[in-house]
Amino acid sequence: MAKAHVSSSHVFFLLFFLFAKINGSESNEEVGVYELKRGDFSVKLTNYGAVVISVILPDKNGKLDDVVLGYDSVKEYKNDSTHFGAIVGRVANRIGGAEFTLNGTKYKLVANDGNNTLHGGPKGFGDVIWTVKSYSKDSHITFTYDSFDGEEGFPGNLSVSATYMLIDANKLALKMEAKALNKATPVNLAQHTYWNLGGHTSGNIFSHNLQLFGSHITPVNKQLIPTGEILSVRGTPYDFLEPRTIGSRFKALPDGYDINYVLDAASPFHLRKAAVVQESVSGRKLELWTSAPGVQFYTSNMLHDEKGKGGFIYKQYAGLCLETQGFPDSVNHPNFPSQIVNPGETYKHTMVYRFTAN
Ligand SMILES: *[C@@H]1O[C@H](CO)[C@@H](O)[C@H](O)[C@H]1NC(C)=O
Ligand SMILES: *[C@@H]1O[C@H](CO)[C@@H](O)[C@H](O)[C@H]1NC(C)=O
Ligand SMILES: *[C@@H]1O[C@H](CO)[C@@H](O)[C@H](O)[C@H]1NC(C)=O
Ligand SMILES: *[C@@H]1O[C@H](CO)[C@@H](O)[C@H](O)[C@H]1NC(C)=O
Repeated sequence: MAKAHVSSSHVFFLLFFLFAKINGSESNEEVGVYELKRGDFSVKLTNYGAVVISVILPDKNGKLDDVVLGYDSVKEYKNDSTHFGAIVGRVANRIGGAEFTLNGTKYKLVANDGNNTLHGGPKGFGDVIWTVKSYSKDSHITFTYDSFDGEEGFPGNLSVSATYMLIDANKLALKMEAKALNKATPVNLAQHTYWNLGGHTSGNIFSHNLQLFGSHITPVNKQLIPTGEILSVRGTPYDFLEPRTIGSRFKALPDGYDINYVLDAASPFHLRKAAVVQESVSGRKLELWTSAPGVQFYTSNMLHDEKGKGGFIYKQYAGLCLETQGFPDSVNHPNFPSQIVNPGETYKHTMVYRFTAN
């Protein structure tokens, strides 16, 4: 009896192991926490979802604070709907109707946001274990992930890498690449950190001053799917071309901001300045550059009493996201810049964050 029990659990273990191998997204990689550090500036990451767990930096008086929302344990990142700190994909943002047609073939994706697919599906790149390819505490960490043909419905094998890099004493760069191995596929990767420059427990982000270098947005319907239009922000609450506080026009937008901006000064493959955010009490300032054509500005409208680090409860509007990326639902809008990567081609997306305090 005892022997039979042992062997059946052994068989179960083997089956589980085989399933894990076949499924591909459940690798045997260990999940760990890694730190990049230079002086007072430090960033903690995990290979689960290539997540940024914390960014600690001084305010104008030298006081250190963690300026990103997150959880205490990696376990909590496995069951979140917030996507705190993760790199999301294969296609970030929403795909309307969870489907698209490419070269005459219709692809059905896994819907996880009503009838739509959000951030790559229920088990997107923010919910898989990446491999740590190389790591040096004072310079960089490179994560890789092999996405398989049919994962969440997307076509073809895709070899993905993400390198977080410290530059100087106060800059963090992120270089994302994804090579299509055997089929054409859409790719749109985005970094989904929620920032609060006053410190992650300092309350809402209304008093943050924002300048966003996008004079157009891609408006959305009630399900947050783009209508396909590209509209000017002039005379609307979306206009942050000149710096202003995020809270200044919230009354005109009862649901907060959750919209893609078309970045100006577009020059594909070159870095352009996307945004500057400053919090006045701490004096901390974040400048963001990107090679991507758009940035999703999100004010954590859907965050509701989320228990985070140290048991702190994050309320609605406790953080802001500046997710540089291609335009949402591009696969279904031929007038948006294409996100299709053909076999042998490599998608590239670079971001640079510069932090100062004054
Ligand atoms: C996962 O999150 C849901 C709420 O989103 C919660 O009800 C559930 O208890 C969580 N499960 C675990 C294992 O933490
Ligand atoms: C999803 O699609 C079905 C069938 O078209 C429709 O009845 C339903 O209302 C849709 N759900 C949402 C949330 O839009
Ligand atoms: C695609 O990935 C699968 C494993 O998921 C592998 O067996 C196959 O050889 C790969 N094909 C190519 C062309 O990379
Ligand atoms: C898909 O079509 C495009 C252009 O129509 C072509 O360049 C590309 O090679 C095709 N890809 C595949 C995998 O057939």
